[in-house]
Amino acid sequence: MASSMTPLSPASIYVLFVIALVALHGAPLRAGAADTLSVDQPLPVSQEPLVSKSGKFALGFFQPDNSTYWYIGIWYNKISKKTPVWVANRDSPISSPQSSRLTISSDGNMVITNNSRSAIWSTNISNIASGQTVGVILDTRNLVLALASNTSVVLWQSFDHLGDTWLPGGKLGRGKLTDGSTRLVAWKTYNDPAPGPFSIVLDPNGTSQYLLMWNSTQQYWTTGNWTGRSFTAVPEMISSDAYAHSLYRFDYVNGANGSYFTYEITDDSILMRFQVDVTGQIRFTTWVESAGGWTLFWSQPKAQCDVYSLCGPFSVCVDNSQPSCRCLRGFRERRLQAWLEGDHTEGCSRNTALQQCGLQGGTRKGKKDRFYVMPNVKLPSDGQDVVAAQNARDCELACLGNCSCTAYSYSGSCWLWHDGLINLRDMSSIGNGDGTILIRLAASEFTSTGNKKKLIVGVVAAAVVAAITVIALVAVFILRSRRISGHQIMGKSRILTRPYV
Ligand SMILES: *[C@@H]1O[C@H](CO)[C@@H](O)[C@H](O)[C@H]1NC(C)=O
Ligand SMILES: *[C@@H]1O[C@H](CO)[C@@H](O)[C@H](O)[C@H]1NC(C)=O
Ligand SMILES: *[C@@H]1O[C@H](CO)[C@@H](O)[C@H](O)[C@H]1NC(C)=O
Ligand SMILES: *[C@@H]1O[C@H](CO)[C@@H](O)[C@H](O)[C@H]1NC(C)=O
Ligand SMILES: *[C@@H]1O[C@H](CO)[C@@H](O)[C@H](O)[C@H]1NC(C)=O
Ligand SMILES: *[C@@H]1O[C@H](CO)[C@@H](O)[C@H](O)[C@H]1NC(C)=O
Ligand SMILES: *[C@@H]1O[C@H](CO)[C@@H](O)[C@H](O)[C@H]1NC(C)=O
Ligand SMILES: *[C@@H]1O[C@H](CO)[C@@H](O)[C@H](O)[C@H]1NC(C)=O
Ligand SMILES: *[C@@H]1O[C@H](CO)[C@@H](O)[C@H](O)[C@H]1NC(C)=O
Repeated sequence: MASSMTPLSPASIYVLFVIALVALHGAPLRAGAADTLSVDQPLPVSQEPLVSKSGKFALGFFQPDNSTYWYIGIWYNKISKKTPVWVANRDSPISSPQSSRLTISSDGNMVITNNSRSAIWSTNISNIASGQTVGVILDTRNLVLALASNTSVVLWQSFDHLGDTWLPGGKLGRGKLTDGSTRLVAWKTYNDPAPGPFSIVLDPNGTSQYLLMWNSTQQYWTTGNWTGRSFTAVPEMISSDAYAHSLYRFDYVNGANGSYFTYEITDDSILMRFQVDVTGQIRFTTWVESAGGWTLFWSQPKAQCDVYSLCGPFSVCVDNSQPSCRCLRGFRERRLQAWLEGDHTEGCSRNTALQQCGLQGGTRKGKKDRFYVMPNVKLPSDGQDVVAAQNARDCELACLGNCSCTAYSYSGSCWLWHDGLINLRDMSSIGNGDGTILIRLAASEFTSTGNKKKLIVGVVAAAVVAAITVIALVAVFILRSRRISGHQIMGKSRILTRPYV
């Protein structure tokens, strides 16, 4: 075999190169041309995506990073990183793309079909005549289902069905202005566009503030009310360079049929987007081609751990750390894969079941549970005050006396937490927290041999950390002296690339 493999001559390389070029040009017959989906021209996975008239947005099949599933989505056509801004079938991933397609069905709706020819997603409009509709991807990133005879007559539009991204020109509000959702909902994980627990919504109670919500039920951040120029909790909106240069403009429309905000980017060449991130933060980012990525321009809440239940039960949130969540001692990740993909909301579960309460609601009494002490924490706000407990011992007994009690804290008054402990925050890196919490664990988690082993491991780890710290400090010292030149380079980049978070 090896002897037959002669090196290619320069001439044959040239020929191959030409063939490749011709092949590349010949392959996608309707590449870049089509922005319209019709009964005769469905979109299978093998075909180039549809592209809006001036080439800004593409509509087609895509796979999120590291995902085995396919989705129909809209992304920026002209930038090097595929960034979906809207996904049709968030809840119904496609597992067999070869036999799936986006098409106009016999009832006139835009649908995604799979093997079985059943629709896994549909625009789901009733009473439209068959054969009279087309789908069009517009330069505004809006995907519309319109009359083939007059595409200005829109029957359905993706703008009414928000995803996780709010783009210039889109409306984010409440009332009758949309048929569908009025809520931007984050992806579940970076690989899974299914709706996650975090969302943003214009206050349903009628004020002009946006609320960040967990599970649509718990508010954890607000923009504050609109003052006409900015939101009260976001004063930096009007002190920013971008505002001073009139690069963006916000508008609040308070109408009879609903209220909404919309924003414009005055320079068409700048790409900006609002997104509710998987981490529960709202992020305003701008595309920087030279950096090949989205640069953070503004985000809220600023402290990652202000996001409600970010880490799920029995996990602690640590600000300025990557990842932000860690399982409590005695617990491990409930769903490791999701955890590694950035979704911590399922939290952690016990390594060893509590023995004292037994399996059947306290009937089989095992060894008495013990408590692990965690100082420097911010205590979760949903504790239950036990007035009767006059000292730490009483407080501990109160917790031990109730099988659903999972933690307590005593500092003059006694607080108990029941079931899944959420929103615990480690403050040791920031300063002192407001207390010490004691976490209930099975007694076997405290066996002396286990502790000794852990102690030895701990001492070794501490030594390693100390060594790394010294090395890092030396490195920082060296880098500092070179840093000024770096700043000069940064200063030349465009205004928008300078985040003011
Ligand atoms: C995909 O997997 C690679 C390698 O495991 C990893 O570096 C990358 O962060 C993953 N991307 C996402 C979005 O999870
Ligand atoms: C096609 O979609 C239907 C309905 O969602 C589903 O039950 C079926 O398993 C899918 N088939 C394939 C091959 O993906
Ligand atoms: C279409 O709408 C009907 C009722 O409005 C609903 O029951 C059905 O689940 C929807 N189908 C799809 C595919 O969304
Ligand atoms: C298309 O529809 C729009 C909106 O209804 C209407 O203003 C326009 O006159 C129609 N164009 C034609 C050619 O019928
Ligand atoms: C909205 O109103 C309801 C009922 O009056 C109240 O329970 C809720 O807390 C209010 N929500 C906000 C965000 O003010
Ligand atoms: C999330 O909200 C739903 C109601 O919308 C509620 O039934 C459910 O218990 C909530 N989940 C948690 C974990 O609180
Ligand atoms: C917004 O205004 C409403 C009344 O108009 C008020 O009740 C609410 O507290 C205000 N919100 C903030 C964050 O100031
Ligand atoms: C509100 O909706 C009604 C009925 O859909 C419509 O007639 C009216 O023009 C709308 N008003 C505004 C201000 O958009
Ligand atoms: C344990 O505490 C929970 C929450 O306060 C309470 O609902 C439950 O009745 C208590 N159980 C017992 C046995 O006291």
